[in-house]
Amino acid sequence: AQTYTIAVIPGDGIGKEITPQAQAVMEKATEGVAQFRYVPFDLGADRYLRDGVILTDEILEEIKKTDAILLGAIGDPRIKAGILERGLLLKMRFALDHYINLRPSKLYKGVTSPLANPGEIDFVVVREGTEGLYAGAGGSTHAGTNQQVATEVSINSAPGVERTVRYAFELAMKRRKHVTLVHKKNVLVNAGDMWQRIVNEVAEEYPEVTHDYLHIDATTIFIVTDPGRFDVILTDNLFGDIITDEAGAVVGGVGYSASGNINASGQYPSMFEPIHGSAPDIAGQGIANPTAAILSAAMLLRHLGLEEPAQRIEAAVEADIAEKGSTQRSTEQVGQDILDRLSE
Ligand code: IPM
Ligand code: MN
Repeated sequence: AQTYTIAVIPGDGIGKEITPQAQAVMEKATEGVAQFRYVPFDLGADRYLRDGVILTDEILEEIKKTDAILLGAIGDPRIKAGILERGLLLKMRFALDHYINLRPSKLYKGVTSPLANPGEIDFVVVREGTEGLYAGAGGSTHAGTNQQVATEVSINSAPGVERTVRYAFELAMKRRKHVTLVHKKNVLVNAGDMWQRIVNEVAEEYPEVTHDYLHIDATTIFIVTDPGRFDVILTDNLFGDIITDEAGAVVGGVGYSASGNINASGQYPSMFEPIHGSAPDIAGQGIANPTAAILSAAMLLRHLGLEEPAQRIEAAVEADIAEKGSTQRSTEQVGQDILDRLSE
């Protein structure tokens, strides 16, 4: 069996509780097929409060040596918003060139959607991960005065957009062959026109894939009125951030939403994490639902080429939710129930 090295960053709050469950499920699903060597990284709020370290270049170099990263959750109310987000999470996404932020939304049988008539929901958002308004370009003049002007500049490079567009079309080929570009090209004409031009050009190489376009504001409506229309949604960093939270809500809460921060070129390790946060309100009680973390581990396995175990985990999760989705269970119990299904 091949051995893979996995960086494990449980992080903060419930991240510490759900990550071991995801590891246990990964182990079970790959018995005899693959082996994992876990390298734990103590990063997040506790580390920062203890010795001021958020993420050093040395730590980053260690992480770069691994095959993939399993992340729990980052964030803590004791720390000012933005410090860990920019210094740890976004720093990793940028330094490891995670240009694809892959976020599937699926309404599982047994989960109650807040929508009255949700229909079938099964789409994937391909969110660009290293550019746009997240690039950190901007600043302030006359800072701190009543004349202050603050700017945030959205960076959209043709190579950065093209590799994302290609990924979306490749993914669509494996799915229902439809790509929806989401932007705001009636207002953001410079970036919007470029995204559309590149989509049109790449689309010529994928004659089987149909594509359409929606403004971001209209998209937020369709996600609640007609989510079944979407297969692959392709969009920039900030629009993708916003609609994946909305998408998480319509499939019954972000507790079921996994994600991958993917360096599709394979130069750096990709990072897999649940979309939800560290949930300080329920941390330490052993009641956090590990399902999104377990589904993130399945995405990690798929990324490593371990498709069969990834599918087995997804099937086990699907069956688990269908049967017990509405029952109150501890973190460990959910993990154990999924493990039991994997040994059947
Ligand atoms: C997410 C989060 C992050 C983002 C924050 C914590 C920086 O909201 O993963 O969606 O905006 O990308
Ligand atoms: Mn978000």
